[in-house]
Amino acid sequence: MTHHATQPTAPANAPAHAGIYRYDAVDRQFVAERVAQFRDQVQRRLSGVLSEEEFRPLRLMNGLYLQLHAYMLRIAIPYGTLTGQQLRALAGIGRRYDKGYGHFTTRQNLQFNWIRLEDTPDILEALGAVDMHAIQTSGNCIRNVTTDQFAGVAADAVADPRVYAEILRQWSTLHPEFTFLPRKFKIAIIAGDHDRAVIRAHDVGVKVKTNEAGAIGFEVYVGGGLGRSPFLGQKTRDWVDEQDLIAYLEAVLRVYNRLGRRDNIYKARIKILLHQTGLAKFTEMVEEEFASLRGPRYHLDPAIVAEIRRHFAPPPYDDLAETAVDAVPGTAFARWLETNVAAHRQPGYAAVTVSLKPAGGIPGDATSDQMEVVADLADRFSFGEVRVTHAQNLVLPHVRRADLAEVFAALDAAGLGAANVGTIADIIACPGLDYCSLANARSIPLAQELSRRFADPERQKAIGDVSIKMSGCINACGHHHVASIGVLGVDKHGKEAYQLTLGGDPTLNAAIGDLLGPAMAEEEVADAVEKVVDLYLARREPGERFNDTLARLGRAAFKETVYAAG
Ligand code: HEM
Ligand code: SF4
Repeated sequence: MTHHATQPTAPANAPAHAGIYRYDAVDRQFVAERVAQFRDQVQRRLSGVLSEEEFRPLRLMNGLYLQLHAYMLRIAIPYGTLTGQQLRALAGIGRRYDKGYGHFTTRQNLQFNWIRLEDTPDILEALGAVDMHAIQTSGNCIRNVTTDQFAGVAADAVADPRVYAEILRQWSTLHPEFTFLPRKFKIAIIAGDHDRAVIRAHDVGVKVKTNEAGAIGFEVYVGGGLGRSPFLGQKTRDWVDEQDLIAYLEAVLRVYNRLGRRDNIYKARIKILLHQTGLAKFTEMVEEEFASLRGPRYHLDPAIVAEIRRHFAPPPYDDLAETAVDAVPGTAFARWLETNVAAHRQPGYAAVTVSLKPAGGIPGDATSDQMEVVADLADRFSFGEVRVTHAQNLVLPHVRRADLAEVFAALDAAGLGAANVGTIADIIACPGLDYCSLANARSIPLAQELSRRFADPERQKAIGDVSIKMSGCINACGHHHVASIGVLGVDKHGKEAYQLTLGGDPTLNAAIGDLLGPAMAEEEVADAVEKVVDLYLARREPGERFNDTLARLGRAAFKETVYAAG
């Protein structure tokens, strides 16, 4: 688990099938030891030997939070890839120890919201049995490295970014120097021009690319982050050689660890350091550090990259001709093909997004039964592989086009047939005041109402790719800053209230949305969002995207519509 990236690895067991990293014996032993250690800590807490204050840092090391009503366990899903077997294990944990469901998050994690402390050691053991854990899902360390849900599948990518995400996972896990950073640290990585991981909203965003000679290298963005002071990541280097990936990131982290503010939690993220130092000076410091690190010790051996790449080799596809899929126009299946089915680099295959956004549903929630349905479909139709998206949906990455009708029917029967991926009804929402101790306002009921208001497929189609994202407080877990229409929960004289932001963009051309106007009451929000959408529909030029209409008409026009009396 630790530092394999700087020493050769020899997995004890060859991958049962390609496409997924498998733990080796060292990884397994480490996780088992950590579970045993935590079991002892929980015992001591339950018997009163440890106070909550003493126990807190120990539980957070294992992803266990104390929320409004119960303990919450956050489980890492490295680069959002799961096996069918792992998803089935998560379903079992949800059924046995939670209320029969789990919540997929924007960080490609899974959260269980109703956990009893005494059960947590058994839960962690059950996770360990399928090579999973909750380590580094909290605390001021490098968190789960996130990536494109279509990694290895999308035709527009130059490599499978999970190869490098896995290298970064091994490098960062329990890295002694970076376990107590000034603040948490989030890295996202993609390998194409289409950014499905919002890399410019991360402390470090990495884009894998190739040069004219065909060699692999990385473009690096630093200092992005949402929350109280949102910033977009700025490019610190256009090219880092593949062999220097660890050295370069180590240099960035060292500068941050040394100079990041530890006196003020609101100013502790690397985005504030970069903002206060300025890009030029920051880059200079990183370059200086990088020059000193670029030696043999941090050299990423091509043999190690090749070894890890082997774990992510494509599954054994059938040799198929590109097939057209028959669907009766106007049916739910036809619409689903348009919205939820993406192109695959392998002829005859498609990537299926399973929407966790049914009209009136809670974004990102899946019942244990539903997880089992998806796990079974993965085993039958997708080489046992499932992905989690940052937009809180699931993906079956390799489905034969000829099987799409059967997959849709099975999903639909399980309440997973919503044909709305990438539409205005594909709402991202954080847990908000229903669960979260930091929330100002609820986000879930509003997300449910908005999903009902925008449930009509024809209207979704007319509206296009306008996005709604909601956060229950300024921490912005629900990504509202990078939504076309963001909804932010605020406290207005002790009452739940909401502000709208307009014009955010999560792509490589990222933009942070602007506040539209004063906060409004819960019952006013859905109408306000509809007014924004209606104005866009009424005034857009043919083919014009939301942010362009907004820029052309000006924010004042939208403000006037929303806040007009009566
Ligand atoms: C329910 C318990 C949660 C707590 C206590 C919590 C706490 C926080 C805090 C304090 C921040 C701001 C940190 C900073 O800027 O330094 C934050 C940001 C964030 N959290 Fe959460 N969060 C929770 C759940 C979630 C969930 C469920 C998601 C995904 C749906 C999530 C994803 C994020 C993201 C994406 C950010 C902002 C991005 C950034 O790091 O700049 N969090 N969270
Ligand atoms: S945005 Fe605020 S309310 Fe929502 S989960 Fe994050 S900390 Fe909680």
